[in-house]
Amino acid sequence: MKKVGKCYISKEYRNTPVEEAFLTLDRIFALNDNLVSVDDQSDVLKVKIEDKFFYIKRFYRHGSFLRRHIIRSRCTTEFENLKFVGSLGIPTPKIVAYKQSSLFWRLGKGKGVLISEEVTHAKNLYEISKTEPEKFSNSHWRIHLIKELANDLSLLHAKRFVHCDLNWRNLLIKEQDGKTEIYFFDMPLARRRFDFSFRHFMMKDLAMLDRYACQILRRSDRLRFFLYYLGRASLTKRDKQLAKRIRRYNSKKNKIKI
Ligand SMILES: Nc1ncnc2c1ncn2[C@@H]1O[C@H](COP(=O)(O)OP(=O)(O)OP(=O)(O)O)[C@@H](O)[C@H]1O
Ligand SMILES: [Mg+2]
Repeated sequence: MKKVGKCYISKEYRNTPVEEAFLTLDRIFALNDNLVSVDDQSDVLKVKIEDKFFYIKRFYRHGSFLRRHIIRSRCTTEFENLKFVGSLGIPTPKIVAYKQSSLFWRLGKGKGVLISEEVTHAKNLYEISKTEPEKFSNSHWRIHLIKELANDLSLLHAKRFVHCDLNWRNLLIKEQDGKTEIYFFDMPLARRRFDFSFRHFMMKDLAMLDRYACQILRRSDRLRFFLYYLGRASLTKRDKQLAKRIRRYNSKKNKIKI
């Protein structure tokens, strides 16, 4: 990958057709096949190189002036967050390459890309709820998922890491050889918070998950998730207050957005 601005390529892809395909930002931004998702700041493409699929997240701007120059760009933040979450033993898509335009270009709009290997045999949780709703009737599968998710989120929060966009589309469920694993990804807004704002964002992560869960899961399963997350057999007065804050926060969101 041509070294202009910040750049990383995983060792196993150096000097391979994959590096060649993603050599420059211009080359990556010229791709227009298989658009998976798009919004005003980024889009996601799925591309195939030598029988392997890759997801390319292209950031068109690095966010506000403040974010670009004082904080970190969304692209850099997502790259570092994936590494951090992975370092805790929580599954994340494997990063293939990351590249961000140089400081000079960042003075303008700025561009960045983050390329990950496809997590095979995986679908996001929202998609599963729509295309395979019967899975949720399988108590073994459902409880395993609830437990894993609660444990992972509890660990992230114990490290004071908040995701900030924890909707069901941003959890990939990989099912292979009878094993079900949850992958965390899409976290350009996530960060570790050591100040008083942590409790608010921690509550927001729980609320975002529950906003859609309340349409799919039984109350007893949502309570089970909360207890696993808290690592307790029953709720304390403080836990009940947190649950109340989550309910109040979600009821303020008049339009249901997962
Ligand atoms: N490495 C990957 N392996 C498998 N699927 C992936 C991978 N990366 C992204 N996807 C799929 O592409 C979708 C969009 O990716 P991502 O969430 O990063 O983009 P987004 O623009 O934030 O989309 P959304 O608004 O739907 O959250 C994901 O929901 C997931 O289904
Ligand atoms: Mg997403």
